[in-house]
Amino acid sequence: MTRVLVSDPIDQAGIDILSQVAQVDQRTGLSPEELVGVIGDYDALMIRSGTQVTAEVIAAASRLKIIGRAGVGVDNVDVPAATQRGVLVVNSPEGNTIAAAEHALAMMLSLSRHVPQAHGGMRNGKWDRKKYVGNELYKKTLGVVGLGKIGSHVARVARAMGMDVIAYDPFIAADRAQQMQVRLAQLDDLFRTADYITLHIPRTPDTENLVNAELLRSMKSTARIVNCARGGIVDEAAIAEAIETGVIAGAGLDVYASEPLAEDSPLRSVERGLVLTPHLGASTEEAQENVAIDVAEQIRDVLL
Ligand code: NAD
Ligand code: MLT
Repeated sequence: MTRVLVSDPIDQAGIDILSQVAQVDQRTGLSPEELVGVIGDYDALMIRSGTQVTAEVIAAASRLKIIGRAGVGVDNVDVPAATQRGVLVVNSPEGNTIAAAEHALAMMLSLSRHVPQAHGGMRNGKWDRKKYVGNELYKKTLGVVGLGKIGSHVARVARAMGMDVIAYDPFIAADRAQQMQVRLAQLDDLFRTADYITLHIPRTPDTENLVNAELLRSMKSTARIVNCARGGIVDEAAIAEAIETGVIAGAGLDVYASEPLAEDSPLRSVERGLVLTPHLGASTEEAQENVAIDVAEQIRDVLL
């Protein structure tokens, strides 16, 4: 019998598709050792970002044909090890684009109007109207780092809100940017001039710790930065210090170098100017249904 292991929470629409062709076992929260212990029984594995598919897991996966990542990033899968064993790795490159873009925009708006902090005050019986005077996005400059699927959607919405948009992406042609009414800039120019910066790049050796203390120091003291892309692109200790010492006005972070974020991370004690969410960029009902269907259909087709 063909068997599929689903080891992270996946929308029911995906489970229904897989159930047409296989026995589907939903077993979330397996330890790495437990996963190594059971993976040999399965023809396909479906995951989100929680499961780490290491070379050890792949070595134990004697009948595995395909790993489906319900989302964009396959950085939790050892793709070279899978390829070496002839195991396909598939993802959903577009299913959560809008969700992630809207989360970045929500971060920008939350930061500029202090929404989480004002809400916290209300919960504590306060009525702080003076403390939370904010800023408008209208006529401000947004710097988009990575003008791919998510970055382009953020740029489009930001233009509609009356922002000037500049972007750094060495792999995008100037005429493509021009069509979106976006001006391409160099990274240092973008960091120096933007009022808001939003990151939409993958984590690669080139982008690891890209946003470090030096780059943060080049930003305007009134500027805010959002990372809904990948942890490790921003130096977390440097950004906490930059906000606390007034080097920048704030940051919105959804992703972290190590997840879940450590309880004693310096980010958790920054009182003002920082909005943190626990990797929620793709967490909309719509996106979860999209990515589940997208990846389940690919797994079904391969199993058939
Ligand atoms: P994409 O591939 O469509 O776009 C990425 C862009 O980054 C491309 O245009 C590429 O040219 C550019 N790029 C690559 N290296 C660069 C560099 N060194 N400097 C500048 N630009 C560079 O990807 P996408 O779908 O837009 O996703 C962007 C990021 O968002 C990915 O890291 C993805 O994993 C992440 N993501 C996060 C969430 C979340 O839940 N927070 C959800 C979806 C996607
Ligand atoms: C992704 O890469 O798609 C995102 O990180 C979202 C996720 O799967 O949680």
